Amino acid sequence: MCMRTVIFGILLLLVSSCSLYQDENKKENSIVVTNHSYANTDQVRSKHIRLNLQVDFRNHIISGVVRHEIEHLNKSGHFILDTKNLTILKVTRGEDNETEVDYEIGNSDSILGTPLIIDVDKKDKFINVYYKTSPDSEALGWLDSSQTMTKQPFLYTQGEAILTRSWIPVQDVPSNKITFEANIEVPGNLMALMGAENPTVKNDLGKYQFKMDQPIPTYLIALVVGDISYRKTGSNTGVYAETPWINEVSSELSDLPLMIEKAEKLCGKYVWGRYDVIVLPYSFPFGGMENPRLTFLNPTVIVGDKSLISVIAHELAHSWSGNLVTNHTWEDFWLNEGWTVYIEHRIMEMLHDREFSDMLSVIEWHEYMMEKEYYGEQHKDYLLSLKTDLKGKNPDDGMTSVPYVRGAFLFKTIEEKIGRVKFDAFIRKYFEDFRFRTVTTESFLNYIRKEIKNIDKLVKLDEWIYGTDIPADMYQAGTERMTEMEKLAVAISNAKYLKETFVTDGKKYLLKRNSFNTQEWLHLLRSMPRTTSPKILAYLDQLIDFNSWHNAEIQTEWFLLAIDANYKPAFPALKTFLGKVGRRKYLQPLYVKLTERPENRKMAKLIFEESKNVYHSVAVSTIEEILQE
Ligand code: BES
Ligand code: ZN
Repeated sequence: MCMRTVIFGILLLLVSSCSLYQDENKKENSIVVTNHSYANTDQVRSKHIRLNLQVDFRNHIISGVVRHEIEHLNKSGHFILDTKNLTILKVTRGEDNETEVDYEIGNSDSILGTPLIIDVDKKDKFINVYYKTSPDSEALGWLDSSQTMTKQPFLYTQGEAILTRSWIPVQDVPSNKITFEANIEVPGNLMALMGAENPTVKNDLGKYQFKMDQPIPTYLIALVVGDISYRKTGSNTGVYAETPWINEVSSELSDLPLMIEKAEKLCGKYVWGRYDVIVLPYSFPFGGMENPRLTFLNPTVIVGDKSLISVIAHELAHSWSGNLVTNHTWEDFWLNEGWTVYIEHRIMEMLHDREFSDMLSVIEWHEYMMEKEYYGEQHKDYLLSLKTDLKGKNPDDGMTSVPYVRGAFLFKTIEEKIGRVKFDAFIRKYFEDFRFRTVTTESFLNYIRKEIKNIDKLVKLDEWIYGTDIPADMYQAGTERMTEMEKLAVAISNAKYLKETFVTDGKKYLLKRNSFNTQEWLHLLRSMPRTTSPKILAYLDQLIDFNSWHNAEIQTEWFLLAIDANYKPAFPALKTFLGKVGRRKYLQPLYVKLTERPENRKMAKLIFEESKNVYHSVAVSTIEEILQE
């Protein structure tokens, strides 16, 4: 345990011993916070859970029991679980003959939640916690019937990073992997699915059983309930979606089998059985979430032209980086996401070509540069290195493009220096050697130094991982097409007027949607100088008709440009977009941009008030912070 953890633990002890109900024998005195968790997994560890839950849509509550099968590693009288916004009804011991046991509820922390400290005996094998969630449980995204396509209510959970504790009392720390079983009861007309073995048809009673017999970290426990249909897309793959658009979804995602084949080539066998995807409602705060066997996907990925399916490549890649080999703490998050972006790009390279994956690199590098500047200005340097320092902070703060892009670029750089053949062999061996285990930054460094003897001579690993500047030896991802887009953007911006045939630098362009692919358009819009006049945007809008282009990546870039230029005709569509789409990656820059002018800030506040019951809690807290500043 590092010194800072100890100090934080002591501080917590001091705080708690000053609390109102001070008592010499308080169990709370045994609490130490390690890796954003109160759990004492090094003493008593939960290794398997059985859930028995009912989902109550009327009151937005899940209630029931979680049965923990525990393992005693070190002498301790307590078994400590993480909870947040849960009501604990009773705690019992035993499997068939249950008897009540004493427990204590510790002090609450706004980020970590509340420890549940249960008295246990060395002989105890099963501890059962009866509980219910509250409508404020942060993991739970409830949608009323008016907010879905099918006009039926909908529920999805989001566990990563430390939200599983808000719907199940668990030892909510990624270093502890568990298996689970679940019985979930939902209204008879709805289907329930988990990141586990899943049904493909509804059952009239609304009773569903699940099993996950491969060990996973608790942030990957996931549930979704709704009026959902299933469509097979290959021998081992399929899609779930709200019934009305299941056809559209399954054709957009028809490349799943191909993607698995490519991913397996690079990473080794896919070990999780089936790979299915569920497309969630628009409020889902992420592009995707890699719940095992069942990726959760944002509906904005379904554009009709497969142009955004790299998100699927990303979530699929997590089947190795993250789900099989997991970050040990949230400060090692770059090992989950950096590897995953690297693999995502390799999969996309296999589906298209090197130029395409380099285009993705250019786009993401741009996002990294923007965020690097933003967090630099906010003096949040602790977020700018790969290994972060998140003591006392919400791990969610660490979800910047740094672990994703800086992480991926480190792997691209290593690949370039040692050669692809050698690096590919390393990748396969790494996933093999660490499968079903966790990895810290330090254990990763030890490992790579052992496997690739001269690595420090080739790549400045410490600078990459602990530093914040851009290392000089970095992989350069520029592509000619993207450089051309940058030049074209400036030329368009400087033009007096625009028509479909546009000539610059002796080259003729047709300013039409299908002249460029989505990534090229994205880069072009981003590269438009922020001083572009509303007149030029009006010309461009006339040619492209942005209002009818339903691609959230393009829309976001267009809106950002329109806000900068104060191009008002884009504003109605912007309002509609913000009232519908809940993906944080889009909401965050748009709300930030709107706060720059007082009249827009006012509008942003109004839109947020109207939309926040649709957004998921993680998006709500991000935007509240933006609007407060
Ligand atoms: N695992 C993440 C989502 C996540 C990270 C949720 C941290 C909560 C805390 C997921 O795999 C992800 O990275 N999603 C990206 C997709 C993109 C990089 C293709 C997103 O949502 O933007
Ligand atoms: Zn990811």
